[in-house]
Amino acid sequence: MSNDNTHWHRSLIEPKAGLMAVLTTVFISVGGLVEILPMFTASAGNQADLLEQIHPYTPLEVAGRDIYTREGCYVCHSQMVRPFRDETLRYGVWSRSEEYVWDRPFLLGSRRIGPDLHRVGGKYPDAWHYEHMRDPRSTSPGSVMPPYQWLHESKVDTEDIRASVVALSRVGTPYTQDEIDHVPDLMKEQGTVIVQHLADAGITAEWDDEIVALTSYLQRLGRDRKATLATAGGAQ
Ligand code: HEC
Repeated sequence: MSNDNTHWHRSLIEPKAGLMAVLTTVFISVGGLVEILPMFTASAGNQADLLEQIHPYTPLEVAGRDIYTREGCYVCHSQMVRPFRDETLRYGVWSRSEEYVWDRPFLLGSRRIGPDLHRVGGKYPDAWHYEHMRDPRSTSPGSVMPPYQWLHESKVDTEDIRASVVALSRVGTPYTQDEIDHVPDLMKEQGTVIVQHLADAGITAEWDDEIVALTSYLQRLGRDRKATLATAGGAQ
């Protein structure tokens, strides 16, 4: 009876290691080609110059990104909107590979315990992020996201961020020497704008609070892409 349960490839293919290796290679190659070839043929449409419009992160955003990485936000949040209708309706236009050009290391994430964040920039006011990070349930009732209230007390170290910016420039991000020399000033300039938004909402913060840096990064996500879409008349 055991013969009835034996599939034909068990006797015809599996005992022959050479044949098995050849067929495995053929099938994996077909799978690979199906994934890779469409990328070469897909039309870039009027977004062909998208790459030029994706700007490197500012020093404050680099600081925020470092915090995002340190706190492991990518464990619960993806940063990739897939080209499916349910995703584009919920999050916005699908992600393109060009958008990750300055992401070193990339933070795509592989789980969505929380929503995708690739289009979260501009979705909420700065004060919302401040409160949400302090106590997620205050802005999102029933949220299972943990609070990160230490970000509201800890300070960013501008020399640390200068080191991050220098490291990024060594691997190809086009920061100018002038930007590298003025990392603390640039951070202060951008942070002060966020502090002003928070003050308008009755919140006291300082430009070098970690939460300000993280907010600048979150507000940045998806912004360049949204800007190109606005000028391209909404085409994808
Ligand atoms: C345990 C999983 C988990 C972790 C870790 C986590 N989050 Fe969340 N996050 C969630 C869930 C669930 C939601 C949806 C409910 C809510 O808004 O709080 C959410 C919502 C958000 C939102 C609002 C998204 C939207 O479109 O409404 C932002 C922004 C966010 N998280 C940022 C972060 C950042 C930054 C970190 C790291 C400091 C982080 N999260 C860590 C689970 C998590």
